[in-house]
Amino acid sequence: MADYARAGGGARVRRRAVWALFAATGALGATGIAGVVAYLWPRRLRRATRVVDAGPLGEYDPGTVRHVPEEGFFVVRRDDGLVAFSHTCTHGVPQPCAVAWLPEMEFSVERESSGVRKRFSGTGWFRCPCHGATYDRADGDLAFGPASRPLDTLPLRTEDGRVRVTVGPGRAHRRDLGAPPPVTPLARAP
Ligand code: FES
Repeated sequence: MADYARAGGGARVRRRAVWALFAATGALGATGIAGVVAYLWPRRLRRATRVVDAGPLGEYDPGTVRHVPEEGFFVVRRDDGLVAFSHTCTHGVPQPCAVAWLPEMEFSVERESSGVRKRFSGTGWFRCPCHGATYDRADGDLAFGPASRPLDTLPLRTEDGRVRVTVGPGRAHRRDLGAPPPVTPLARAP
């Protein structure tokens, strides 16, 4: 009887041990899955196409250049409307660098663009810190440096009195030298 009781007690202990093992394995698995999801999910979100609120239309006085660095673009208020430029330098050697907005910079140069000689001159330029590519503020045109094309543009619209820019894979519009950027006229604003 005592042997039987000992045998039954041993079986219970083994069952408990097996359940404890299952529980520990399950907890570890759940932790691992949660970790993988936490690691991947923000990256997927960052890569996804999304519309970014670039602020109220009322904050864009003529000549305003607003940088939204975490989303990788500038919004420029021209006389005829708004345009969004990607802040990624089009030189991209060896890695794409982010161009900076230098409002105080004075610069003047003459450059041939698509067979047309163009004079660039004024104050306020986009300049790449890596190799010096310099882009015009109104058109994002390449004025100087080793890049071969203007800054890419991003879709921009005005809605409910706010400026919205679409970012994400494949959203940047690539232009050839001399091609004008797409401008969103302010007349379209509600
Ligand atoms: S990466 Fe911008 S000039 Fe080279």
